[in-house]
Amino acid sequence: MRPLAIIGGTGIDELEGLEVIRDHRVSTPFGDTSRPIQEGRFGNIPLYFLQRHGSPGAIPPHRINYRANVWALKSLGVDGIVAINSVGGISSAMRPGRLVIPDQVIDYTWGREHTFDEGEAGELMHIDFTEPYHRALRLELLAAADSGGVPHEASGVHGVTQGPRLETAAEIQRMARDGCDVVGMTGMPEAALSRELGVPYASVCMVVNPAAGLDDLPLTLATMREILAREAAVVRQLLSELLKNRQRA
Ligand code: HPA
Repeated sequence: MRPLAIIGGTGIDELEGLEVIRDHRVSTPFGDTSRPIQEGRFGNIPLYFLQRHGSPGAIPPHRINYRANVWALKSLGVDGIVAINSVGGISSAMRPGRLVIPDQVIDYTWGREHTFDEGEAGELMHIDFTEPYHRALRLELLAAADSGGVPHEASGVHGVTQGPRLETAAEIQRMARDGCDVVGMTGMPEAALSRELGVPYASVCMVVNPAAGLDDLPLTLATMREILAREAAVVRQLLSELLKNRQRA
């Protein structure tokens, strides 16, 4: 089986436990990836890792070269992408510290390079995005969470905002009315670009704060990072279980 790729977000600068074998600097028609893609072994299982914010995490969500990142992973022949996103919690179950494996997306981003379709292929590229996440890969994640005893929410609507600022209270109320359970800034266009290239893609969201206006405390990066540090260990456990299950299959 070909290796999976992990795209890490805020708080996952390095994938602890990944024994790096080499770095791939893939040149793409869209420019450079956020940083070189690490190829390595995680518990002896081959894996690629890319941190979407670069190193040391300086690229803001609206400036990430999502096209280069996804294109490069496809060119390395990955079997699928598991994306890690940190998010704010909107619905009541989505408290800080919770892991969510979302099943739907609402895209509020704008002005990002969001497609590979530049009208040059001679045919239109209207991908089916009814289910934005790859069903089988999502089910594998859910099975890994179950077999590894990792507490999680098995579904949720991931609203993706433009950032880099956080939302207003009214924006979060509107997103709640729209049906969003969590809010992040990096889930799109990554998911759609992966679908355009036919790369299976699923996401694990770590809730790091109550979304704007849902709590009296101010939203600070410091408190988010504290929760992220704890959740990163749980995500690692989930990934390790996922990879073990795949190797057994
Ligand atoms: N809003 C948007 N993105 C986020 C948040 C949030 O509250 N928390 C972490 N990423």
